[in-house]
Amino acid sequence: MQIIHPLADMTRWSEDVLFRGETIALVPTMGYFHEGHLSLMRLAGRLADHVVVSLFVNSIQFAPGEDLDQYPRDLENDTRLAANEKVDVLFVPSDSEMYENGGATRVRVEGITAVLCGRQRPSHFEGVTTVVAKLFNITKPHFAVFGEKDFQQLAVIRRMTRDLNWNIDIVGHPIVRESDGLAMSSRNAYLSGEERQSACCLYRAIEQARASFAAGVRDAARLQVEVRDTLLANPDVSIDYIALVDQHSLAEREEADAGTVLALAVRVGTTRLIDNGFLADDTEKSN
Ligand code: PAF
Repeated sequence: MQIIHPLADMTRWSEDVLFRGETIALVPTMGYFHEGHLSLMRLAGRLADHVVVSLFVNSIQFAPGEDLDQYPRDLENDTRLAANEKVDVLFVPSDSEMYENGGATRVRVEGITAVLCGRQRPSHFEGVTTVVAKLFNITKPHFAVFGEKDFQQLAVIRRMTRDLNWNIDIVGHPIVRESDGLAMSSRNAYLSGEERQSACCLYRAIEQARASFAAGVRDAARLQVEVRDTLLANPDVSIDYIALVDQHSLAEREEADAGTVLALAVRVGTTRLIDNGFLADDTEKSN
């Protein structure tokens, strides 16, 4: 596995691959790898001839007061973990090269960025789409793989890719969970022992909503109340949102159906966690 820092070297590497008629799958990450990231890398390896993993803690997707400075980093361990997978390049650009003089250009997707996480984090998705657009231009992938835990992010990136006419296949990977159901996330590292216990309430709430749906409950307001009660049964938990939405438009549903996604954002102590799941079953979210 090569480690590439300069943007121009990364693009040259990709152009060589394209010249040979071979394919590239990109896995954009902010590092601090866990099994979820490694699963994305393995899926990328099945999709394309070559895998590029980008590792860049993208400052512009954090608002002032968010956890940019605390965001966990361990380049040495990440390098070791990626090298054990079928990864050709670990692309680690510098902040100064990615955002020369702060970077004056932003890529913004309207509409679906204003709901769910966009309400609490109004500048977040603009930061994400800007960096992902840059990574697409620099690495020139045929495929890009993202985790479905960030279900809104995936919808926003799909929309951007369509709107900007990139011929890139955006591929979602199902959420990878700990044995007690907690969705894997680099931010789980912030949780104390007790908070870690409370944090499984997200998955418990999703499972419980599925059970109610299976028992015939369709009224979104009623499902939301049940989910809220399950979440708030845990002392350290406060709720950012509980939403039942259409998987594509992210529009709120009054009546749930099999294509409805339950999306959750909660704080456990000071750590913000998100999770989601279809009400009907664990079917992969379709394009
Ligand atoms: O999901 C993430 O880790 C980030 O939002 C991404 C897509 C790598 C952009 O910085």
